[in-house]
Amino acid sequence: MKKRIAIFASGSGSNAQKLMEHFKRSTDIEIALVLTNNAEAYVLQRADNFEIPSHIFDKHEFYKTDDVIDLLRNLDIDFIVLAGFLWLIPKNLIAAYPGRIVNIHPAILPKFGGKGMYGDHVHNAVIAAGEPEGGITIHYVDENYDEGEYIYQAKYKIDKNDNLEMVKFKGQQLEHLHYPRVIEGIVKKIKK
Ligand code: GAR
Repeated sequence: MKKRIAIFASGSGSNAQKLMEHFKRSTDIEIALVLTNNAEAYVLQRADNFEIPSHIFDKHEFYKTDDVIDLLRNLDIDFIVLAGFLWLIPKNLIAAYPGRIVNIHPAILPKFGGKGMYGDHVHNAVIAAGEPEGGITIHYVDENYDEGEYIYQAKYKIDKNDNLEMVKFKGQQLEHLHYPRVIEGIVKKIKK
């Protein structure tokens, strides 16, 4: 039986795309579901292209019911990957998947993390601070934004003339390179 991953994403889903590509031919791991809080998210199109089912939920469903957990359990999901998902994960979901939820953040945590620090906000803050390096952090998810145990970090150089697009591009290249293989390493080790 393959181990089954659910991806939570709120936007474009370029990381989700890399994961879908990476595991498409895997014999032991599959992306089985994509979930989003945003009915307009391009990640839904990407899921469709890979014939992966998706589910859209609202705040009430996510924070006031167990419906998302029931869905994950009904679909036999073993592991959760956040890929540009912007809402805080509620306690009941963390309790249902202990040590089985990971996130990627576009900075070297603990710097440039926390509520409101996502996507371009992070890159702009890194540039404004005049940092010589940017990076990514892959970490376990707990009840606070960007605070779970770190799994993997990687860095890139920021040149003086780098603008938002350039910094974002460098960060994305690292994310796309490392997220699928780091997840594969973790999921291989968990019990079905
Ligand atoms: C990624 O850069 C990810 O690190 C970031 O959102 C982007 C999603 O891009 N996540 C956060 O900022 C979480 N705090 P994508 O939709 O193209 O994968």
